[in-house]
Amino acid sequence: MSAPAVERPAAPAGTDKVLEVSGLTLRFGGLTSLDNVSLSQTRGEVLSVIGPNGAGKTSLFNCLTGVYTPQEGDVRFFPEPGVVKSVLGRKPYQVNHLGIARTFQNIRLFNALTALENVKIGIESRQRTGPIGAMLHMPWNRREERESDEEAYRLLTFVGLGKRANEVSSSLPYGDQRRLEIARALGTQPRLLLLDEPAAGTNPAEKRQLEVLIRDIAETGVSVLLIEHDMKLVMSVATNVVVLNFGQVIAAGTPQQIQRDPKVVEAYLGGGDDVDKAAANKPAKAPAKKAPAKKTPAEETD
Ligand SMILES: Nc1ncnc2c1ncn2[C@@H]1O[C@H](COP(=O)(O)OP(=O)(O)OP(=O)(O)O)[C@@H](O)[C@H]1O
Ligand SMILES: [Mg+2]
Repeated sequence: MSAPAVERPAAPAGTDKVLEVSGLTLRFGGLTSLDNVSLSQTRGEVLSVIGPNGAGKTSLFNCLTGVYTPQEGDVRFFPEPGVVKSVLGRKPYQVNHLGIARTFQNIRLFNALTALENVKIGIESRQRTGPIGAMLHMPWNRREERESDEEAYRLLTFVGLGKRANEVSSSLPYGDQRRLEIARALGTQPRLLLLDEPAAGTNPAEKRQLEVLIRDIAETGVSVLLIEHDMKLVMSVATNVVVLNFGQVIAAGTPQQIQRDPKVVEAYLGGGDDVDKAAANKPAKAPAKKAPAKKTPAEETD
């Protein structure tokens, strides 16, 4: 694997981007998974990436997290204003240390471990104690252990799982597992959190909890990049939306702009009913607490 790319000067003051993707092209043999994809995300924004199955959404996340190396393009991450890091060429754990964390389309938890232990794995990836320090029981090791317990409880409480800390993760309901994965990702102290279909397979009550959780995360100052098929969730939490189709960005704008865009209606929703219904169900800037919504019209899951 090549060395991390050279860091570049920060973006001009005032733009305050957290992420800038330019001209990303990813090919697998003859298949172009991402075709000259550009997008940018403002700090604190919930930016949603939508598009039909196979549009390239997860491939984009894989490029942003060091899993795939695109043939062309650039990815610049701004962990804080005035600091810019080039992401491409770094391994996944290095990208995570920069401040980008993710969850996966197919949940990846340590099934035999408790919820608390899963979150501690995220937290401890940031700590200085290695295996030798742990074996020697150094004083700082005991302090870090105590701190990571406290932080894991705090994060579990934040995602609504404080009472399930000691349950084995595989025994948790599906929606709880999704939120546990988010807590683990938050344990790595990201500035940018990538969520790949966090609502997939969840029930309506769990979707509402997720909606509130995503807003709560954004309120803590963590920017959220959200892949989601559930249009109602997207319309409710996203500040802006980028639409991918066959690896290309076909539209970008506010949820209201997107739902009216004929290209989106044609390519993604095949007729427009679903996006209109989804938007009617919930405004883009909905209050945090509201009446239970009806079943999502535009939902697809894997
Ligand atoms: N490792 C790989 N090798 C070959 N082709 C791949 C690989 N990863 C992704 N692709 C292809 O790239 C295209 C985009 O896939 P991707 O998983 O990014 O889509 P997606 O938008 O996330 O779809 P979904 O909504 O179903 O999750 C698909 O045609 C897929 O088969
Ligand atoms: Mg995907």
